[in-house]
Amino acid sequence: MQVFKTVEKIQSYLNNARHKDVGFVATMGALHQGHLSLIALSKNQNDLTICSIFVNPKQFNKKEDLIKYPRKIDSDLKKLEEVNCDVVFIPNEAEMYPNKVEKNFHFGPLSEIMEGKHRPGHFNGVAIVIDRFFEILTPTRAYFGEKDYQQLAVIRALVKDSKSEVEIVGCPIYRENNGLAMSSRNERLSEGEKEIAGKISKALAFISHHKKTYSILELKKYFWDTISKEKLLEIEYFEIVDKKTMKVLKNWEEGENFLAFTAVNLGDVRLIDNMTIIN
Ligand code: PAJ
Repeated sequence: MQVFKTVEKIQSYLNNARHKDVGFVATMGALHQGHLSLIALSKNQNDLTICSIFVNPKQFNKKEDLIKYPRKIDSDLKKLEEVNCDVVFIPNEAEMYPNKVEKNFHFGPLSEIMEGKHRPGHFNGVAIVIDRFFEILTPTRAYFGEKDYQQLAVIRALVKDSKSEVEIVGCPIYRENNGLAMSSRNERLSEGEKEIAGKISKALAFISHHKKTYSILELKKYFWDTISKEKLLEIEYFEIVDKKTMKVLKNWEEGENFLAFTAVNLGDVRLIDNMTIIN
C-alpha cells in the first residue's frame, strides 16, 4: 500500500503507473465497515483504488464538531492495509487548498431542505473538497454511501454541472447489528447509547413498511412520538422525500421511489439515517 501526503507525489505516481480504471473513495477517517464496503466495491470495479483521509474544515458549520471529529490515522492505515487498498492520500489543508477558495456552488432545492437547511454551507464545503479531489486525482469512478444520500445527490449534481467525466457510484448503507447506521461519529457513543440510537432505524423500518396503512402525517407523528419517548434523543427533522426529484412530500403522491430521512441528536452527537419506503 502506497501512502502519499502531497499532491505532487501522488500525481507523479499516478502518471507513472497509468492504471486504466482508477476508483476513488473519499473519507474523513475513523474508518468503519461502511467505508471499507466502498473500498471493496471500488477494488472490484477498478485496476487501482485510492482512499483519501482528510477532515475537511470547509464542510463543518460548527467549530466544536470539527474539533471533536474523531481522528485515528494509525488504526485507519492498518484497516486499509488489511483490505489491500492500493493507495492512501492524506493531504493537509495547505496541500488541499494552496489558494484561497471562495467557490459558491448552487444546488437549488437540495441545499434548502434537510441537511442543506440545518447545516448552512455544509454542501458547499463538500462540493469544494470533492471538486478539488477530482481535479487532483482524475478518477474513473468515485464511490459514495447512501447513508449520506443528500450528499450523494449533491455530488451527482456537481458532476453534471461541471460536465466532469467521473462516474459516481452510490453504495448501500452499512449497519450495526441493531440497525444503527455505521458512522465515524458513533465512536463517541457508549454501548448503552448505541442501543438507544438503534431505535432510530427501527422507527424508520416501521415507517418504510406502512405506506399503504398510514398517511405521511400519521407516520411523521409516529416517528416524533416514538423517538421523543427516549429522553436522550432529539429530532432535528424527519421528512419523506421523492428520491428522483428530492422534493419533500406532505401527502403520498404517484410514484414509487420514496425515502424517509432523519437527523437526530444524541447529546452532542449528530446522527443521520434514511430508508427506502416499500411500496
Ligand atoms: P465520511 O463521513 O468519512 O464518509 C466517507 C464515505 O463513506 C461517504 O461517501 C459516506 O456516505 C460513506 N459512508 C459513511 N458511513 C457509511 C455507512 N454506514 N454505509 C455506507 N457508506 C457509508 O462523507 C464524508 O466523509 C465527507 O463528507 C466526504 C465525502 C469525505 C467529503 O469530505
